[in-house]
Parts: sequence; C-alpha cells; structure tokens
Amino acid sequence: MASLSFYPIRAKPSGGDFRSFRRQSLARPSRVGFRVFASEGQAEPDLSVTVNGLHMPNPFVIGSGPPGTNYTVMKRAFDEGWGAVIAKTVSLDAAKVINVTPRYARLRAGANGSAKGQIIGWENIELISDRPLETMLKEFKQLKEEYPDRILIASIMEEYDKAAWEELIDRVEQTGIDALEINFSCPHGMPERKMGAAVGQDCALLEEVCGWINAKATVPVWAKMTPNITDITQPARVALSSGCEGVSAINTIMSVMGINLNTLRPEPCVEGYSTPGGYSCKAVHPIALGKVMSIAKMMKAEFGEDYSLSGIGGVETGGDAAEFILLGANTVQVCTGVMMHGYGLVKKLCSELKDFMKMHNFSSIEDFRGASLEYFTTHTDLVQRQKEAIRQRKAIRQGLQSDKDWTGDGFVKESESMVSN
Ligand SMILES: Cc1cc2nc3c(=O)[nH]c(=O)nc-3n(C[C@H](O)[C@H](O)[C@H](O)COP(=O)(O)O)c2cc1C
Repeated sequence: MASLSFYPIRAKPSGGDFRSFRRQSLARPSRVGFRVFASEGQAEPDLSVTVNGLHMPNPFVIGSGPPGTNYTVMKRAFDEGWGAVIAKTVSLDAAKVINVTPRYARLRAGANGSAKGQIIGWENIELISDRPLETMLKEFKQLKEEYPDRILIASIMEEYDKAAWEELIDRVEQTGIDALEINFSCPHGMPERKMGAAVGQDCALLEEVCGWINAKATVPVWAKMTPNITDITQPARVALSSGCEGVSAINTIMSVMGINLNTLRPEPCVEGYSTPGGYSCKAVHPIALGKVMSIAKMMKAEFGEDYSLSGIGGVETGGDAAEFILLGANTVQVCTGVMMHGYGLVKKLCSELKDFMKMHNFSSIEDFRGASLEYFTTHTDLVQRQKEAIRQRKAIRQGLQSDKDWTGDGFVKESESMVSN
C-alpha cells in the first residue's frame, strides 16, 4: 500500500539563522509548507510531526508544570521519548514567587470520593517556578547541549512591563531553546501582578503584550490560552494576529475542589483558608476538547494551515490525544497525566496512537489531523439535517423497501415517492 510522508519544503534556516530570519518576517510568522511524497510499504505509522519548523519524533509534549521543573526531570522526559518538553514557567524574579503547602487537592471517582477511587480531577494553587532564573537558564543550556536535536520550549511570564519581557526573552533565548510558550493563562496568584490569566482575559492588554513579545522573539512563539473566559477564540485570534506562530489550549480551569464537611474549611486548606485554584486531569478533557474545537474552527476559517495548535487537558491515553488531533491539534501536551503515571507514559501513548492509526490505515499524523472538525455545526443545522434524514427514511419505506406493495403498474410513480415525500 502506498503511504504518504510529509517533508518540509521550507524548513527553518539552520542553527541560529532562524532568529534573524524570524526578525525579518515579524508581520507574518515563518511558515513551513509540506510536500507529499508516496513511499511503498510503510508498515508502522509515522508519529513524527514538524510544527513551525520544529521536528519532533512524536506529537507528545510535556506540558508546563512539575514534569518540567528541573534538569533531572526534563532529561528523563527526553530519555523516555517525549516529542518535546515545555519547562515550568519562568519569570525574571523568582524571589517574588512564594508557594504554599498543601497546594494540590484531588477528586476521586467512586462513592463519596472514596480514597480507593481513581483520580479524575486535580486542583492546584501552585505558582510558576520559584527556582532562580539563573539556575533554570543554566539547566536549559545544558539540556540543549546534551540533546541538540530534541525540542526544548521555555514557558515564560512577566509583569506588564515591556523592558521586563524583552530582558526575559533575550536571556531565555540565549540558552538555545527552540521556541517560547507564553503563559497568558495561570489562573491564580499572579493576576495581582497583571500576569498570566490577567493578560489572557483582556484582549487589549494581550495585543499590546504580544506585540512586545513578537517584536523581540526570534524563535517560534506559542500563546497559552486560559479557558476562564467566555469566548476563548477572541484571545486566540488576537495572539495569532499579533504575530504568534501558534496557540496552546487549555491551561487549568478556575475551581474550588471542595469543602471539608467536618471542619467547614475549603480544600486545599492552608492555615484554615484556601483560594480558588486550577483544575486539570481527566475531568477537564471534554471541556478542553470543546475549547480546542472552537479555536481550531476559528483558525481554519481565518488563519489557514500554517499556524499551529497544541491541545492540552486530561490526556492519559493515545485515544485522548487522537481526539485533539482529529480536531486539528498539531501537538498534544500532558501535565497531570505525567504526574500520576510517570514519564514512561509516553510509550503507552505512542503505541495506543499507532493502534488507532493502524485501525484506520492512517500512515501519518497529517492523514487525520482535523478530520472530525467538519462534523461540528450549529443546532439549527442539526435540526435541518435530522428533518431531512427522517424525510429520506420515510421515502425509502414508502418506496423501494416496500416491494410487496408494488403493483407493477405504477412503478415509476412509486419509485418517485422516495424523493418527493
Ligand atoms: C501542579 C500544576 C502546575 C502547573 N504549572 C503550570 C505552569 O507553571 N505554567 C503553565 O503554563 N501551566 C501550568 N500548569 C497547567 C498545565 O500545563 C496544563 O495546561 C493543565 O494542567 C491541563 O493539562 P493536564 O490535564 O494534562 O494537566 C500546571 C498544572 C498543574 C497540575
């Protein structure tokens, strides 16, 4: 069977050249086109993807958070085979980032959240990285020296200050990282400093900050979106039209995990008090699919194929990932799934995604990316479609499938009844 392979026809210029290349084309992000070649007898599906010029062995990316918090764990991720790693979000002054304990609360399936039930929901009130920026930068540099062919993406966040963003981008890029993901979506802790979701929820602010970032950055930029907004397509549109190469969605959903019915105090409980946190894990997967579907439709209608989309939320199986890809995602990020199942999860994800692809005879990710998007429509259209389907079924009953009723004399009239009812 002939299979399809995708080769970039305009890859990023080699090495550091991409930075000056990107600077020249700020108004329009750099694009990678694909030419299709036929090759014979490819047995195993090809999981590799090339996104904004970045080649990854598979679409599975470590999402920003505890699984990308230091050199040791990011190295582990590369060794286990993750397609790319997004480090825990960094800012210029880690001393301003003060975490509390406990900062996680979990929701279990089963009667009254029985301790034996499977974890389906995870709330965190964790801030961005509290490790010194210098330390994180040293570790990025070391990782890129040891894994020059693997994709390391820095996640960054700063205050509403152009010079601070420029300094952060400059220092992070000097480590050799391959791309930037901008955390416009952290739901807790940082809004007081006009950071994270405070920017992602305000399109005017977002446009201005994206303008600063894209004027400075020389590597591809992904904007990470918050779901804590009425219409997620609005900030996604602003980010892309302000020069970002891609969007990632979703960050965590604003939540209160629960109230302890003995103490009457909310969870997670810090010195008797709590604060709303970010919800992740399996329970958010359908919400994430909904948000990604909306963004993908908007991107398809307004931006075309060249911009990238990274799906995030509740991924624990290859099937979960396939769903994001079927909606148009180029890559799929996993955060809580890695915290629960470890870095080896990527092997299971790859083999389950391959099984899905074999079942449908897909040989590459591009073979099915976005394939389910066209089946989303409006409710009014569903009503129309159902009306038409019922009409057709009735027509069939009155026509060809009612052979016993046919007299032979009125054959033409009777068969016409199939379409005229
Ligand atoms: C404990 C924890 C810490 C996180 N920290 C960050 C962070 O520093 N930056 C960021 O962009 N997202 C952060 N996230 C959000 C995740 O990257 C991801 O968007 C979200 O958890 C949904 O995906 P998941 O269900 O696979 O975890 C964090 C998530 C968790 C659970």
